[in-house]
Amino acid sequence: MTFTTRFTRLVGIELPVVQAPMAGASTPELAGAVCEAGGLGSLACGMLGAEAIVAAVAQIRSRTDRPLNLNFLCHREPAADDAVLRRWIERLAPYYAERGLEPPPADAIARRPFDDEACEVVESVRPAVVSFHYGLPAPDLVGRVKDAGSLVLSTATTVAEARHLAENGCDAVIAQGAEAGGHRGMFLTEDVAAQVGTMALLPQVVDAVDIPVVAAGGIGDARGIVAAFALGASAVQLGTAFLRCPETALPLAFRERLDHATDETTVLTNVLTGRPARGLANRVVNELGPLSADVPPFPLAAGPLLPLRAAAEAAGASDFSTHLAGQAAPLGRAVPAADLVRTMMREAAGIARGLGEDEA
Ligand SMILES: Cc1cc2nc3c(=O)[nH]c(=O)nc-3n(C[C@H](O)[C@H](O)[C@H](O)COP(=O)(O)O)c2cc1C
Repeated sequence: MTFTTRFTRLVGIELPVVQAPMAGASTPELAGAVCEAGGLGSLACGMLGAEAIVAAVAQIRSRTDRPLNLNFLCHREPAADDAVLRRWIERLAPYYAERGLEPPPADAIARRPFDDEACEVVESVRPAVVSFHYGLPAPDLVGRVKDAGSLVLSTATTVAEARHLAENGCDAVIAQGAEAGGHRGMFLTEDVAAQVGTMALLPQVVDAVDIPVVAAGGIGDARGIVAAFALGASAVQLGTAFLRCPETALPLAFRERLDHATDETTVLTNVLTGRPARGLANRVVNELGPLSADVPPFPLAAGPLLPLRAAAEAAGASDFSTHLAGQAAPLGRAVPAADLVRTMMREAAGIARGLGEDEA
């Protein structure tokens, strides 16, 4: 099995493995380790300010000068609709009452879409790759990113989204199947029920666009990697598989929940942030969702949950925590990220050689 693909040639990396950007979970240490191992490390910038991004990039570059991906969000900033927010806070009122808590200000969680300031950071640090989630920013910003010398990637959850990205300047597209941990990258559709699994989505996207396709969602080990290449992927993007690596920023409770995850542990829910995301179910997800029509738009749903989360976590409970993970969570291994990348790719080569020989 050759590891040289259209994607590795385009980006200039050794192995066709992208460590998924994971806001709140991925760290400079994780990205640096994956870059050093020959894959593409990613820094999730969706919840970071300009200074924090520059500092994180400097930290990674003090260790490696290999290609790096900076990832940004492209949601539309929600209009301030007090009625929707009030309704949400009313839904949460019994939980506040249980603990004698007050709701926080609505903007307590900052998730800013890619804007002029973020673009200036890209122009100053010039990463090899900039990936977006929830579509693309305005065409002039896409142009500025390209002029800075960065390749542009974004996530598609349908064939129509993949075509849109290919026609609007993307150099490669990430096909994100419904198994994926984290937020759905959906941006031309709001139909959560129609979201497609990786096995069905990937070959249809490969057929629809001329640019390299990166497979994401439910790829938990070498078997999934080989399957993705068989379906036409030029690279794989793994998130959940990296979560248990020591380099991630996961709180202990999240790690312990992953230790006990099964194939049935995750659900697609909009209750935690206002956008559909796959994660470990918990009390608030089960009681108000998993999908609720009452949630304010992303990211406003998250703010009012913060004091509840803090109080519950202080008492050792994950009842309100945002523990995002995908359906392949049980396949994850608690080993250093570089070992994980190298081992998975070695195993993938072995599996590819023995395809068609089962143990029966
Ligand atoms: C904890 C977590 C956080 C994530 N945050 C982001 C993010 O900030 N930006 C992004 O583009 N994708 C994010 N994702 C989605 C990943 O890019 C990717 O689509 C997904 O992890 C692939 O599926 P898998 O988890 O089954 O490997 C996140 C995923 C997880 C598990």
